[in-house]
Amino acid sequence: MIRTIRRRWRALALAAAAALCAGGPSGAATPWGADYFPNVPVTTQDGKTLRFYDDLLKGKSVAILLFYTSCKDVCPLETANLVKVQKLFGERMGRDIFFYSIAIDPWDTPKENRKYAEKFGVGPGWLFLSGKEADIQLIARKLGLSRSIDAQTKDGHAASLMVGNVPKGTWMRNSPMDNPQFLATTIANFLGWKRSGPAPSYAAARPLGVTKSQYLFQSRCSACHTVGEGDRVGPDLMGVTSRRERGWLTRYLKEPERVLAEGDPIATSLFAKYKQVRMPNLDLGTEDIAGLLSYLEARSRK
Ligand code: HEC
Repeated sequence: MIRTIRRRWRALALAAAAALCAGGPSGAATPWGADYFPNVPVTTQDGKTLRFYDDLLKGKSVAILLFYTSCKDVCPLETANLVKVQKLFGERMGRDIFFYSIAIDPWDTPKENRKYAEKFGVGPGWLFLSGKEADIQLIARKLGLSRSIDAQTKDGHAASLMVGNVPKGTWMRNSPMDNPQFLATTIANFLGWKRSGPAPSYAAARPLGVTKSQYLFQSRCSACHTVGEGDRVGPDLMGVTSRRERGWLTRYLKEPERVLAEGDPIATSLFAKYKQVRMPNLDLGTEDIAGLLSYLEARSRK
């Protein structure tokens, strides 16, 4: 199934000769409005059908991301990361900004999307949208979110978060994997929010006194895992280095999707238990993995 999506999106990316150049829909004299964005119907995770331009864009500031619920690499981390951004935005969500996650996989029905959103603890002001495949592809193209596969997006959708102030017709492209504080600050500045937004932060830089492994854990794992504070999207990793063999953990962190696909019993039962979200392949190197495991071991001992 994934391969089909990849092929389909690659074809689309080729057809869509960079409609939007770097930075998204910008560079034209007129704002990107009703003439530019399709007003196709899309359905929310609660089964409500809305018009893409009239109901979701017109007059609003938005942050838009493509995803699909069975994604094996970056999308789950992106969603988990944006949940943190959503928390930082607080009551601005659904008032000053709207988040849209658009499902590119035709199998993702509103029901699947709702389960997915619930799993991540998504709050108000954030819609998970699905629609007819051709309509979704058109939206993606117009947003500049379909482009050829790069190292990070093995499935052919651009791992970008498009942030737009629709009335002004200004857009910017962000990485949804950035540090949430940094992302929240960048978006707030772009939209010209004064004070009450998140405080400026330089948290994107590795803080002093933090080891590389600790930093990796915070930036790549902590959106889904705790050590000793209970299950989140994924299992609590307290004591994981004693309950699993080192070799298994190393392989699992390197290619969780393979281990699962091979029918490994541990991966299978974990996946059954933590339904809807998979442990993503985060493209970790052997050294990073060794460092992370030592870090988890040390934290579990405390
Ligand atoms: C988007 C959420 C997400 C992120 C990010 C994530 N994981 Fe996971 N992880 C999961 C889920 C969900 C599972 C359970 C297995 C499944 O459903 O595929 C899991 C399982 C695991 C397991 C197996 C646990 C056990 O009990 O055997 C380990 C170890 C693990 N993750 C470590 C990590 C590390 C280290 C990172 C960061 C480099 C990380 N994970 C990032 C969601 C995530």
